[in-house]
Amino acid sequence: MLLAIGDLLEEILIQLKEPPVRGQDTPVRSARIRGGSAANVAAIDAEMGGTPRLVCQVGDDAVGYLLAEDVRSRGVQVDVRHSGATGVIVTTVGLGVRSRLVDRGASRGPTMLDDVELEGVTQLYVAASAFTEDPLASAIEGLLASLAECRIPVVVSGPSAADLELLGVDAFTELIRTLRPDAVVLNRAEHKAVGCQPRQALAGARTTIVTAGSRPTLVLQASGDTESVPVAPIATIRDRTGAGDGFLAGFLSSRRTGADAVAACHAGHRVAARVLQNLGPTTVR
Ligand SMILES: Nc1ncnc2c1ncn2[C@@H]1O[C@H](COP(=O)(O)OP(=O)(O)OP(=O)(O)O)[C@@H](O)[C@H]1O
Ligand SMILES: [Mg+2]
Repeated sequence: MLLAIGDLLEEILIQLKEPPVRGQDTPVRSARIRGGSAANVAAIDAEMGGTPRLVCQVGDDAVGYLLAEDVRSRGVQVDVRHSGATGVIVTTVGLGVRSRLVDRGASRGPTMLDDVELEGVTQLYVAASAFTEDPLASAIEGLLASLAECRIPVVVSGPSAADLELLGVDAFTELIRTLRPDAVVLNRAEHKAVGCQPRQALAGARTTIVTAGSRPTLVLQASGDTESVPVAPIATIRDRTGAGDGFLAGFLSSRRTGADAVAACHAGHRVAARVLQNLGPTTVR
């Protein structure tokens, strides 16, 4: 069973048709979806038949309860604490630019992970953002130290530019060196930003996976072996939100069944393709 720890947020998608003009209303199209990589990965895992658990904190506000219920309704066992205000991501698309405004809000908690139930957990997913801000960062480091004894494989996704600004490249690479995760999954920009050369694996990770949108994904083994896994073209992309989380969910579930990293990337591509054909981070309409 997958255990995901981290963010559950509201995400507001804004489709811009014309540039905003100062002092004027600009008509846009909008959609409200779920954000937060941990929540999205757990929800997609459940949609594919998994029985994941999500440990998170959201606001003690209406949207926080709705978000928790949405994830629960997809089959995720949600271990949530409601406190403070729910975080929000505002994503604007259109006019050739995709931008994200991020307030993680209550997802910077929870403070206590001591009583996380590990019964049945065979894999842990944590996004790099979980290590950037206290109290979650300290709590997660404490949990991971105790997990090392259980030998539960950990998969970490790459830090965004904003995560790296908070964490620093050295702290991230040191984290991976000591954590020794099963895999670190990054996109090309993230892989470059953590100081790696194009085919360089992260020290400490069993595999470093570098996704590149429609281009092949690189599987960089600690041994130095490199493989390139092609991505099948998609006729129509409805919305690209959650592609990375879809990849992660497919990758994680395949690794859990014992598949090698290349086969797991193929599974990641298949799930990402389904997410890309739906609105929001989901494989179902
Ligand atoms: N244009 C595309 N065509 C086909 N597949 C795609 C496309 N874009 C993304 N994907 C799929 O999604 C996966 C992850 O995409 P990408 O490398 O863009 O990740 P990302 O930048 O982390 O995404 P996100 O913004 O969702 O975090 C790819 O490996 C691929 O399987
Ligand atoms: Mg990503």
